[in-house]
Amino acid sequence: MPVSSSFSEKPTLVGEKVLLRPVRPEEDLPMLRAVLDDPDVLRYTSDSYTPEPPVWDGARERRVVDWYTTRNEQTDRLDLIVVDRATGRGVGEIVLNEWDEPNRACNLRIALGPDGRDRGLGTEAVRLLTDHAIRAIGLNRVSLSVYAFNGRGQRAYEKAGFKVEGVRRQVLRYGDAWVDDIDMAVLAEDWG
Ligand SMILES: CC(C)(COP(=O)(O)OP(=O)(O)OC[C@H]1O[C@@H](n2cnc3c(N)ncnc32)[C@H](O)[C@@H]1OP(=O)(O)O)[C@@H](O)C(=O)NCCC(=O)NCCS
Repeated sequence: MPVSSSFSEKPTLVGEKVLLRPVRPEEDLPMLRAVLDDPDVLRYTSDSYTPEPPVWDGARERRVVDWYTTRNEQTDRLDLIVVDRATGRGVGEIVLNEWDEPNRACNLRIALGPDGRDRGLGTEAVRLLTDHAIRAIGLNRVSLSVYAFNGRGQRAYEKAGFKVEGVRRQVLRYGDAWVDDIDMAVLAEDWG
């Protein structure tokens, strides 16, 4: 298994439109706070119906600051900032987590704010980090789930090379509607 890297190393990965780099808390926190409160991010990444962002009280601020100031110390996950190369600005985050070491697998998640969306940045960021997971870290499988009402997310993952493996039905109660969750994954053997 070609393991030249690991989750402890926090690389900078450079693509055409995006650059993925480690978190710089002071520079990134204002952007990350806005991304966390963005309506699309809340709708598509929350485990439960969250019509309004949680209040920014002292406790939430401390949790968020603590979270992002400790990302680069994590040895079992990789959190990177997605930078729009056209402007040099951070537009969101992308993460490999839920590392399943014996089975050489992990999960991928991504959240971009409105400035970063709908220009191909998400697709490229997913491709870059998946390539790192498979070729540099040596993983065999990268998986994710995407709500059925997130057509943009599904399409971006599909363009990045992920395949649908199944549908978990009625996973999310969204207002008065049920939403399915679609499981997608990419395998090393698919990656070429
Ligand atoms: C999902 C996300 C990462 C995608 O990144 P992006 O940069 O916006 O997407 P891209 O521009 O790379 O690609 C989007 C594709 O979806 C298509 N698309 C957009 N809206 C769509 C919709 N409602 N239904 C189907 N396809 C749609 C676009 O046309 C494009 O495909 P194309 O290139 O074939 O035309 C980003 O939008 C995001 O972070 N959204 C908010 C949070 C989120 O949804 N996170 C993922 C949770 S699983």
